[in-house]
Amino acid sequence: MILTAEKISRSFPRGSREFYALQETDITLAGGRMTVLQGRSGSGKTTLLNILAGLQSPSSGRVLAQMTRGAEDGSVQGEMAPAATDLYSLDDKELSRFRNDHYGIVPQGQSAVAALSVLENIMLPGTVYSQDVNLPEKAQALMERMGIADLKNAFPKELSGGEMRRMSIARAMIRDPQVLFADEPASDLDDENRDTVFSILREIADEGKAVLVVTHERCARNYADEVYQMDAGALRLA
Ligand SMILES: Nc1ncnc2c1ncn2[C@@H]1O[C@H](COP(=O)(O)OP(=O)(O)OP(=O)(O)O)[C@@H](O)[C@H]1O
Ligand SMILES: [Mg+2]
Repeated sequence: MILTAEKISRSFPRGSREFYALQETDITLAGGRMTVLQGRSGSGKTTLLNILAGLQSPSSGRVLAQMTRGAEDGSVQGEMAPAATDLYSLDDKELSRFRNDHYGIVPQGQSAVAALSVLENIMLPGTVYSQDVNLPEKAQALMERMGIADLKNAFPKELSGGEMRRMSIARAMIRDPQVLFADEPASDLDDENRDTVFSILREIADEGKAVLVVTHERCARNYADEVYQMDAGALRLA
């Protein structure tokens, strides 16, 4: 998939003025590429990620998703490329379905369901719209890949920070999405766990997914195809 944001912005009323969390921005994410987004706290990183991820509508502009029929490099193949989907022209139900079908999202902070086991948390996105008979096997394979297979029956409160992040990535990958969004997936981790998380995200990009990572960690640059810097709502290539 190629995801293109055209002139997107997001403002909020603050006092008597409009505050621009995101100034007018163009950005493209493509299959096979890992894009890293850095910047100070409050600079608008999550706002941009959420707009691309179909979680928060922009004040202006649009987000277009172009399917690429599995082309690993994200190029549009053939003469009959399907029409792009304009995310925010979809209604809430359609957009929710689109996210479930095409996106994996690792939100900022803790997002596990406390009452569900690791296995159940990972399978959750695969139970919303579909009944995939292979779901337990897919979850098992992902847990093995993330090194948390022995924790399948544990509950989120029993996990370390690194295990929790890897569980969140497994959950985001359960529907085999074309785009993976990860918002601060390595915050508060030690160096080894941090490197593990970035290596996994790099591998996922190498398998043909588009990956967007918001992170404060400078070492993330070593894994990225491109690095953007966000400064007071303004995006630039670093
Ligand atoms: N719903 C909202 N209403 C008003 N202001 C908001 C809203 N959401 C975000 N903001 C403001 O927009 C700015 C950008 O927020 P955002 O969450 O995108 O920052 P961030 O770069 O992800 O920060 P952090 O690194 O701390 O996660 C902040 O000043 C925030 O207060
Ligand atoms: Mg944020």
